[in-house]
Amino acid sequence: AKLLLLNGPNLNLLGSREPGVYGRTDLAEIESTLVTQAERLGHEMVCFQSNAEHELLDRVQRAADDGIAFILLNPAALTHTSIALRDALLAVAVPFIEIHLSNTYAREEFRQINYFSDIAAGCLIGLGAQGYELALQAAHKRLMDAEG
Ligand code: DQA
Repeated sequence: AKLLLLNGPNLNLLGSREPGVYGRTDLAEIESTLVTQAERLGHEMVCFQSNAEHELLDRVQRAADDGIAFILLNPAALTHTSIALRDALLAVAVPFIEIHLSNTYAREEFRQINYFSDIAAGCLIGLGAQGYELALQAAHKRLMDAEG
């Protein structure tokens, strides 16, 4: 199946951005690992990152027409603010897994607001870059189970 890895604002800076919080793995490495692992599982992984909310909305809106079966999403700071991105995901009705490198629940009060977890298929929070790999495995299992 075709999967979409979607990363929100500032995640292009992974590797150098607050490495104590977000780790030293950069986005290119996360993306290439997921592309390779998806291929091994018989899937195609499309990757997209943007700092612009409207570009993420447009990408999600295109997902259904693009034949995307599953989305792996780290909404980054939009997690705590974007009703628009939430509504886009509900509109296309493509299932998604929410990922956060850091444990947002162990952080500031303003990160306790989350517009995605209650509509996600599942969440991987606080497991660093490994969260993306675990999300892919979970998506793969769901897709296989759905095929019967
Ligand atoms: C993040 C957590 C968010 O609170 C933060 O704004 C990010 C990254 C994470 O992966 O830990 O940009 O989504």
